[in-house]
Amino acid sequence: MPENIQISCADQEILYILPEETNKKVWTFAGGKGGTGKTAITANIGVALATMGYRVILVDADLGGANLHTILNIKRPKVTLSDFINRRINNLGDILLNTPSENLRLISGGSDMVGLANIPYQSKIRLQRHLENLEADYILLDLGAGTNFNTLDFFVLSNKGFVVCNPEPTAKINAYTFLKSVVYRLIEHEFKRGTLIKELIVKEGRNNKRGSLPIPELLKRIHDVDSDSSGKIKKILSKIQPRLIMNKLRRFSQEREGLQLAGLTDKYLGVSLSYLGMVRDDSHVVDSSELMMPFVLQFPGCGASKDIYSLLGKLDVEDKLGRFAVKRSSRLKRYVKTERRYWYH
Ligand SMILES: Nc1ncnc2c1ncn2[C@@H]1O[C@H](COP(=O)(O)OP(=O)(O)O)[C@@H](O)[C@H]1O
Ligand SMILES: [Mg+2]
Repeated sequence: MPENIQISCADQEILYILPEETNKKVWTFAGGKGGTGKTAITANIGVALATMGYRVILVDADLGGANLHTILNIKRPKVTLSDFINRRINNLGDILLNTPSENLRLISGGSDMVGLANIPYQSKIRLQRHLENLEADYILLDLGAGTNFNTLDFFVLSNKGFVVCNPEPTAKINAYTFLKSVVYRLIEHEFKRGTLIKELIVKEGRNNKRGSLPIPELLKRIHDVDSDSSGKIKKILSKIQPRLIMNKLRRFSQEREGLQLAGLTDKYLGVSLSYLGMVRDDSHVVDSSELMMPFVLQFPGCGASKDIYSLLGKLDVEDKLGRFAVKRSSRLKRYVKTERRYWYH
């Protein structure tokens, strides 16, 4: 069992868990805006990891628009996450769906997931416990757009969640707003209602008349009142270490947009968002999604596939069986091609 930091809840509605890194990696993918490529990137990283010999479980946790199964060519999943959350099925392991790749399984989201707008605290804890017990090396959660509480809480199931963004201003604003919501959700509920610190956080911080106060500035004000509390908040902030993936880049120079977003997040939210890398805009991605196939399988040599391998290289993931170095993507490409045989009948 990983040693979790369970941040105390002032009201019993929220999940505040920032897990430590363990052998089993839970990776969450979010980003604020719809259409930035969260599903495409989650699915393809999952397939690439499975090709590298890891046991991977993809979880479609997009309650508003579950569609991960379509990329994996599964037309109508018989059981979905909502069956587990609504307790029609007791064990999360019982809703795992097989894919043609032996190492890759899916927990699908269903069309009735929208009804799960506010999952009760107990159900989130139950989901987390069951996720921890699944047999896998990697569990990847594809999250929905927006900043609703479920998405924020699922995001912090990993303290190094991935933010998927595009160079467009709206995507960057939404990614920033998403991270700001994560920060406030984590720190607000550390303090009980009616306390001075809580007032400062909500009124002076988030709902400041002139916009939100930069978190470092808010921390200074809290420090003047109670240095223990500001210390506590700093500790929480230092645990959030999201990584940024810029998707759909049309020019390499657009990577600057990612670095700029990372800089703003550091300056105004006091959170270190590290820029991981990019996936270029590539028509093969759309072509493969029309064919309901992950692009790393359909077009293993295309630019976007190379970018996925390169992201994995930057994450220091090595082939589990030691057959090749991921940084030399040509070898990985060859194994992906072999994997493809299982997908086409
Ligand atoms: N790198 C890319 N190049 C071109 N099209 C992309 C890329 N990434 C995603 N897309 C396309 O963008 C659309 C939205 O992607 P999707 O993964 O569904 O986004 P999200 O899950 O964030 O809503 C899809 O049509 C997908 O094929
Ligand atoms: Mg999606």
